[in-house]
Amino acid sequence: MSQRIHGDPDPRLPPLVSPADFAGLPGLCHLAAAGETPMLASQAALFSEFMNDKAKGMGGRERIYAKVTRTADSLAALLGCQPEELGFPQNVAQAVNMVARSIDVSGGNVVMPQWEYPSDMYPWRTGTTMEIRLVRSSDHLMDPQRFGDAVDSSTRAIMASLVSYYTGELIDLKDYRVIADSCGAVLIVDVSQALGVAGFDVSLADFAVACGYKWALGTHGAGIAYCNSARQPGWQPRESGWTSAVWVDADIRDTSVTPVLDGRRFELGNPAALCVQMLGAGIDYLRASGLARIEAHVRALTDVLWTELDGLGMRMLTPGDSARRAGIVAFEVDDEGVWRRGLEARGVLAWTGDKRVRISPHLYNGMADIRQAIEAVDALRRAS
Ligand SMILES: Cc1ncc(COP(=O)(O)O)c(C=O)c1O
Repeated sequence: MSQRIHGDPDPRLPPLVSPADFAGLPGLCHLAAAGETPMLASQAALFSEFMNDKAKGMGGRERIYAKVTRTADSLAALLGCQPEELGFPQNVAQAVNMVARSIDVSGGNVVMPQWEYPSDMYPWRTGTTMEIRLVRSSDHLMDPQRFGDAVDSSTRAIMASLVSYYTGELIDLKDYRVIADSCGAVLIVDVSQALGVAGFDVSLADFAVACGYKWALGTHGAGIAYCNSARQPGWQPRESGWTSAVWVDADIRDTSVTPVLDGRRFELGNPAALCVQMLGAGIDYLRASGLARIEAHVRALTDVLWTELDGLGMRMLTPGDSARRAGIVAFEVDDEGVWRRGLEARGVLAWTGDKRVRISPHLYNGMADIRQAIEAVDALRRAS
């Protein structure tokens, strides 16, 4: 009998919210929030509102932008920061390219885990001349000590994910803040796999980035970027456009650029306004559900999942300590294609890749989904 981590959660634990709030979700065993979440049925109305606004000239455009501003307000309330610190780049890759290029220093280095997501890693290779120091570990788990050993007086940045897309490990940001401060580096954190499922203190980071289409319940085209106004008061990216600079009328315009000091620095030109509105509806829904309640609910599900899968002898990538995970439980497999087909044949939508299976419940899942996933894994394990 495998050991439970937080006592015995209710074996009938229902979803925190009605699956019927989401388009196409009822009847599915959808355990893939770390890859894609379903959309809120209520988000459909935003399309027609947007089409209506877009037909209404300058007034319509003002309404469109007011809704973009409302998304920043709602997100700021969720994160506990100022709306002006938030912008909506297209995706994580775009925002990390901008941040990396802005702190490019010849002879400098950036330190990150070897298994970091490509959108957080590749921009430093292609966009800067800096040395990339990869911190390695055979179990692919984070150890602040190894980061402390890797930095030196030339370290300009530390890049890390709050929750690893690969292992599901949740780190303690405070540890990495201390290391960044020890060498005067900028701390950049990818919160894509945390935002909407785990609380955190974003002010510990200089910059935070996230994609909006996973736990945050938005869709592609509207990423999230945060620039800490206290730590980075005058940050200027190397890129610019009409929304990231103070407007100068055509008759007197010259080539001087006066940057605005808010989230529009990440947008450069028009943001994906419809996608940002979609994201805003997702963030409103998360806030109405209560982030602390979502976190506790998902943890109750992942605690059972981790314990049972470990009991089946799966090769767990996710740490066993419940406090070191959020919404992801992952285990290694030899043939991810076989696992994908096997799980789908048993009605379980998980995610495969990087030679692992990743199972990630959100607020619309209940314990019945977790049981279905455990039974499917057990059946596939026996068959292999
Ligand atoms: C940690 C992390 N960052 C970023 C992304 C997506 O990157 P982008 O927003 O550049 O498409 C993912 C997608 O899985 C992710 O897991």
